[in-house]
Amino acid sequence: MRADKVVVIGQGYVGLPLAIRAVEAGMTVVGIDLDPVRVKRLSVGDSYVEDIAAERLGRALGTRRFQPSTDYADAAGFDVCVISVPTPLRDGTPDLSYVQRAGEAIAPLIRPGCTVILESTTYPGTTEELLRPLLEAGSGLQTPGDFHLGYSPERIDPGNSTWRLENTPKVVAGTDADALANVQRFYDRIVETTVPVGSTRVAELTKLLENTFRQVNIALINEMALFAHGLGVDVWEAIDAAATKPFGYLPFRPGPGVGGHCLPIDPCYLSWQVKRTLGRQFRFVDLASDINHAMPEHVVQRLVLGLNHRGRSIRGSRLIQVGLAYKKNTGDLRDSPAVEVAQRLCRLGAQVRVVEPYADAQHIPAGVSLVDLTEPEVRAADGVLVVTDHDELDYHLIERASTYVFDTRRRCTGDNVELL
Ligand SMILES: NC(=O)c1ccc[n+]([C@@H]2O[C@H](COP(=O)([O-])OP(=O)(O)OC[C@H]3O[C@@H](n4cnc5c(N)ncnc54)[C@H](O)[C@@H]3O)[C@@H](O)[C@H]2O)c1
Repeated sequence: MRADKVVVIGQGYVGLPLAIRAVEAGMTVVGIDLDPVRVKRLSVGDSYVEDIAAERLGRALGTRRFQPSTDYADAAGFDVCVISVPTPLRDGTPDLSYVQRAGEAIAPLIRPGCTVILESTTYPGTTEELLRPLLEAGSGLQTPGDFHLGYSPERIDPGNSTWRLENTPKVVAGTDADALANVQRFYDRIVETTVPVGSTRVAELTKLLENTFRQVNIALINEMALFAHGLGVDVWEAIDAAATKPFGYLPFRPGPGVGGHCLPIDPCYLSWQVKRTLGRQFRFVDLASDINHAMPEHVVQRLVLGLNHRGRSIRGSRLIQVGLAYKKNTGDLRDSPAVEVAQRLCRLGAQVRVVEPYADAQHIPAGVSLVDLTEPEVRAADGVLVVTDHDELDYHLIERASTYVFDTRRRCTGDNVELL
């Protein structure tokens, strides 16, 4: 079956790039999102996802094969449907209500022979145990048999221009061999390499393994940085030296904590399932979460001490914080440790002036002001705190004009610079 009409449910960081890529691969795509503001912006070529430039969105719209819509009726007659809606945590428990609602809405439009693929990150078993029964109930059809069901985790890395959707290998799975063949055929038109695995559960676990691996290793290096500082050893130099080992080591670097929709959340899906199903505690995940969650407070304490050392109190200090996004070169503030740092500094009575070229002004937390990175701004500040190291910023200006820099990312050098 050729996937000529594709529906992508959820037009966010994951769904929009996939929709655009499918249009570029010659398919007709309906991008469904319940947020009317997002759909309106897409319809006029105004992209809110940094990796999709307005010109690229404009070209997709120009083919007349990309239709953003809030109306599920526009999905009728689809060959392939991809679900890429949020999977947040509510009080430490997976919230699959978005997946549920998307499944219920698309089920009546399922026809024999079509394929439904879940891309949202979730715990092993979701596709088979949660999505499948509600698709079957809503369509009156069976899978395997009448329609195909699969899972393919997304590996999108916002802001990464080297590893993009199309050249990052994509893990694909189906609930039976036919479903896998259909899922793989679809993604073979979207990406250069597909990696088939034997079950949807394996594919679901693959994503959680990747993110748990990152979360745990970041926590390890964060704790290493804390202790190395206490011992008076330069952890950054040790990391560079260790990274020369050609086998058995992967470099991770310390930072202000983890954020976004993936690292702070996905491993908790796994630990929640382990607890619920096996009655066991996933100690690595819990420990890593604890360490990473404590990093914003640690960053603030180090800054307070740095100012104190220079005879200044945090209360009333004029500070420039570089970055609010959770990762560089994006404007994504979701669960960003940089936002927590800014809020903590405000609560301590600092005047926080933030340089954040990517974020919408309306999403900036109360109490902080947005400024441009200029020499007079930096000279007027008591200190500069580098939290998110966007590539486009002029770090030499900071090194030159600031009397004190506390840098959590090692972007600056000089006698006035203190590293995390
Ligand atoms: N952002 C990333 O870097 C990333 C990477 C890999 C995987 N993921 C996973 O992909 C999934 C989606 O993440 P995202 O970052 O794209 O989220 P997002 O919040 O950017 O986008 C999700 C979109 O879905 C829409 N939506 C919610 N419910 C809907 C429904 N019932 N019908 C139609 N639209 C609906 C929302 O309005 C929103 O625009 C999550 O499970 C996430 O964990 C995200």
